[in-house]
Amino acid sequence: MEAMLLNFLLMLFMLSIPVESQLSASFYALSCPAVEDIVRSTVESHFDNDPTIAPGLLRLHFHDCFVQGCDGSILISEASAERTALPNTGLRGFEVIDDAKQQLESMCPGVVSCADIIALAARDAVDLSGGPSWGVPLGRRDGRVSSSSDTKSLPSPLEPVSIQRQKFAAKGLDDHDLVTLVGAHTIGRTDCRFFQYRLYNFTPTGSSDPSMDESFLAQLQTLCPKDGNGLNKVPLDKDTPTRFDVSFFKNIRDGNGVLESDQRLWGDDATRSIVQNYAGNFRGLLGLRFNFEFPKAMIKMSTIEVKTGSNGEIRRVCSKFN
Ligand code: HEM
Repeated sequence: MEAMLLNFLLMLFMLSIPVESQLSASFYALSCPAVEDIVRSTVESHFDNDPTIAPGLLRLHFHDCFVQGCDGSILISEASAERTALPNTGLRGFEVIDDAKQQLESMCPGVVSCADIIALAARDAVDLSGGPSWGVPLGRRDGRVSSSSDTKSLPSPLEPVSIQRQKFAAKGLDDHDLVTLVGAHTIGRTDCRFFQYRLYNFTPTGSSDPSMDESFLAQLQTLCPKDGNGLNKVPLDKDTPTRFDVSFFKNIRDGNGVLESDQRLWGDDATRSIVQNYAGNFRGLLGLRFNFEFPKAMIKMSTIEVKTGSNGEIRRVCSKFN
């Protein structure tokens, strides 16, 4: 019943998406009707081998969309392409996209863009992790530019909310989208090096970040020793790191955020009330809230600066321009 209601509300939302994006869920209905099945089964088989691929694919979509729009520019494997830039270290899931593309090329050559495959794979990754599903508007074309120097638009975990806000606003996303999308950190992990300074060297006197819960701080200090190389992996959601749920928001509320950028969402009046809303409303009908809002925000993100019509190209191999 709840799922039906959610689907109905999402359908209503899809109908209200501006046509300016020129994307449509049925874009490949005639040219490659099996596209969604192929991407789904590919993501599923990789996920069965390694469920941690799900957060990898979700993050890949975000990093694709924030640089040059959602156009597969993140996939290009060349010296000085986007993929080689510092904020993109640790990105995962490229092989899943390549695998799906290879199958699609043998079935409907030259038809399905790599950018669309990423968007579908991210949706399937969330679904497989126990999160919501949604209809992905399709018809993006692949970009012809990919440069590491364009990646300044990606947010850094060290930035305050004011900068996160600016970077999201530059992509047409508001505070509500920001908090909702960062909720993606309900799955996945981070290297110690992205937050280790919070444990040992946050204040000028060399102590830890006072906004951290004390017992959580001790746990993180064990996982990320002071003299370690910073490459140990820590879950972004300490309670249910492989399940797509609202415990990430409860962690933020309780001082258990891992990245500084996540924890700061509790320190800003506007973002705090959104975090509080998700953290407090898990049970009952209101509990559908995050599951309803996340797809809307993802659809918005997945239409950032998309190329359609005669712009861009349909790559034959996702890691290379044609
Ligand atoms: C202010 C915004 C954000 C910042 C500063 C940020 C930063 C980070 C950092 C530093 C990591 C760890 C990377 C690593 O150690 O390899 C990470 C992981 C992740 N991020 Fe974000 N992120 C932001 C927003 C988002 C958004 C909008 C999404 C998706 C919609 C997202 C999805 C993910 C996922 C799923 C992971 C886990 C990746 C994995 O396990 O491989 N993030 N993020």
